[in-house]
Amino acid sequence: MNEKQAVEHRADDEPKPLVEFKGVSKSYNGHKVLDKLDVQIQQGEKVALIGPSGSGKTTILRILMTLVPPDSGVVTIGGEELWQMRHGNRLVDADKRHLRKMRSHVGMVFQQFNLFPHMNAVQNIAEALVQVRGHSRRDAEDIGRTLLDRVGLGHRADAFPWQMSGGQQQRVAIARAIALKPRVLLCDEVTSALDPELVGEVQQVLRDLVESSDVTVLIVTHEMRFARQIADRVLMFDNGQIVEQGSPESVLGDPSHERTRRFLQAILAAS
Ligand SMILES: Nc1ncnc2c1ncn2[C@@H]1O[C@H](COP(=O)(O)OP(=O)(O)OP(=O)(O)O)[C@@H](O)[C@H]1O
Ligand SMILES: [Mg+2]
Repeated sequence: MNEKQAVEHRADDEPKPLVEFKGVSKSYNGHKVLDKLDVQIQQGEKVALIGPSGSGKTTILRILMTLVPPDSGVVTIGGEELWQMRHGNRLVDADKRHLRKMRSHVGMVFQQFNLFPHMNAVQNIAEALVQVRGHSRRDAEDIGRTLLDRVGLGHRADAFPWQMSGGQQQRVAIARAIALKPRVLLCDEVTSALDPELVGEVQQVLRDLVESSDVTVLIVTHEMRFARQIADRVLMFDNGQIVEQGSPESVLGDPSHERTRRFLQAILAAS
């Protein structure tokens, strides 16, 4: 093997990230929210994003959801640019069609459950399968019922959002996101709008679903116990940059950065 082949060989062996941010910056009104962010997420990895309020966590998810364009830098999913597209040999700004295609790789669960109020649980799941994935309504509702079983709500398939607890609504929202089989699942503080006694059931459901699947997960959470349970890797953000990252044991159990220690102490004091 000559030197060039050796280099190519090595490059092929390296796992390619499913999601990558390369030098991504974003400002609002002159205030830098993301500052030349570099991060790679591997296929199947479960990554927790932690850090103080305003550190840019939700902005990262919004960029991946194609809701907010970065000011500079490149974001890729599966090696394909999200906010640009190929035009011959050139990269140009993505058009609506490209964004829609890339967006279909991404699922999201929000803090507020965002269920359709006029649809029951199974219709909430089936709707996107019909509209986005082109399933027949009957197939979509079968898939919906199976997923409701998996989140422990098989008996509530006909219930409307206003007839369910917050925890139940969030379990439907999780089932709906998973039903679309996204390559990347984004979760933003999915339990913070819930009564404390409902938090556990939602965390349990999310953990069971993602542990038994190969989906790549980015989860923003202020619940450090949950981050420890669900994440392979924790990213600690401050001022739009990663100040520290590693296994939950190291970042949460033995942080090396002073900013992480201060943040974890503040969370502990507040709980
Ligand atoms: N659309 C917007 N217009 C103006 N400023 C914004 C906008 N969206 C976010 N910001 C600002 O960007 C900064 C980062 O916001 P972001 O929502 O990413 O933080 P976060 O880490 O998710 O915080 P939290 O933990 O409070 O949810 C904040 O200062 C916020 O006020
Ligand atoms: Mg946020």
